[in-house]
Amino acid sequence: MRPAFPLVRTTTPVPEAERRAVLAAPGFGKHFTDHMATAAWTTAEGWHDRRVGPLAPFSLHPSASVLHYAQEIFEGLKAYRHTDGGVRLFRPEFNARRFARSAERLALPVLPEEDFLASVEELVRADEAWVPGAGGEASLYLRPYMFASEAFLGVRPAEEVVYSVIASPAGPYFPGGVTGITLWVSSRYTRAGRGGTGAAKCGGNYASSLAAQIEAREHGCDQVLFLDDTGGKGDLEESGTMNLCLVTSGGELVTPGLGTILDGVTRDSILALAAEFGLTRVERAVTFAELRAGAADGSVTEVFAAGTAAVITPIVALKGEGFEFTVGGGAPGKYTLDIRGHLLDIQYGRAEDRYSWLRRVV
Ligand SMILES: Cc1ncc(COP(=O)(O)O)c(C=O)c1O
Repeated sequence: MRPAFPLVRTTTPVPEAERRAVLAAPGFGKHFTDHMATAAWTTAEGWHDRRVGPLAPFSLHPSASVLHYAQEIFEGLKAYRHTDGGVRLFRPEFNARRFARSAERLALPVLPEEDFLASVEELVRADEAWVPGAGGEASLYLRPYMFASEAFLGVRPAEEVVYSVIASPAGPYFPGGVTGITLWVSSRYTRAGRGGTGAAKCGGNYASSLAAQIEAREHGCDQVLFLDDTGGKGDLEESGTMNLCLVTSGGELVTPGLGTILDGVTRDSILALAAEFGLTRVERAVTFAELRAGAADGSVTEVFAAGTAAVITPIVALKGEGFEFTVGGGAPGKYTLDIRGHLLDIQYGRAEDRYSWLRRVV
């Protein structure tokens, strides 16, 4: 059967020695594979021109509406090499559905789930040589995205849109061992409001988070923690690119409920796994005051952030205007590290895939 995204192979691939050098130390988001998937959409034709072809720049008219009105969405997922040589994706259907929800919120056309999956799978097959070897924590990061390419000025949904997927080898997030980070609790910036785009994965959310990230760095912190209100009060939302989880002395795994935050694949997977660790999953609003008091009296024993890039990052301290405190004695917690290890074992095929989360591509 003809693939949904037929491959036109590049005639100028990155030389093998160069590719091997990249794979030996890929970093994150710095190197890209030989190919990209693309499809076009117009109101007249719908989705068409699906293909995997050579990685190449786009040519855009200066009035292309994405450049002015930020009508754009994206996704992020990884392909993992197992010791049997095969390559698997982790819950790509979840990303496909989230991409469709983001499209609806940004008034972009919905890409059918089967097209999302086919584009990602066929790109991974074309660039299989770029999937890092098994045995470590390296992977091939996949970035599906969609943008308004129509040339016009005016605030209305574009009638011409481009969908694409690019791929980038990613090294282990914590090459020197998992270390805890400090979050800056921004009392100046929020990330989302009710009715806004907080639950969508659109570029604008990230552009507006940058000033808060700079603020965090200026205060010696690694990342920002957004609350749902300014003034350092309100409910916990999420970090720049990660959802937030708390472990309590009462054996609960608590995470803020959905609404104005991203519905993370990692968050959802951890909630599903909680019972295996003897933890009760709880999705509810958590005020910052509750977190601070819990860290002080020991009822909040661990805090971690969850996302595709780092899987799980221990949060060992929080800082804001006029305060600073540690969680769990300032060291990564046992549940945090155990859950992290277990999720990685599932992703890399070292633990049983009880929930059928893996999808074989190669
Ligand atoms: C704002 C935000 N929250 C949470 C996440 C974690 O989501 P996931 O686990 O699907 O990577 C991400 C990463 O994509 C993100 O950008």
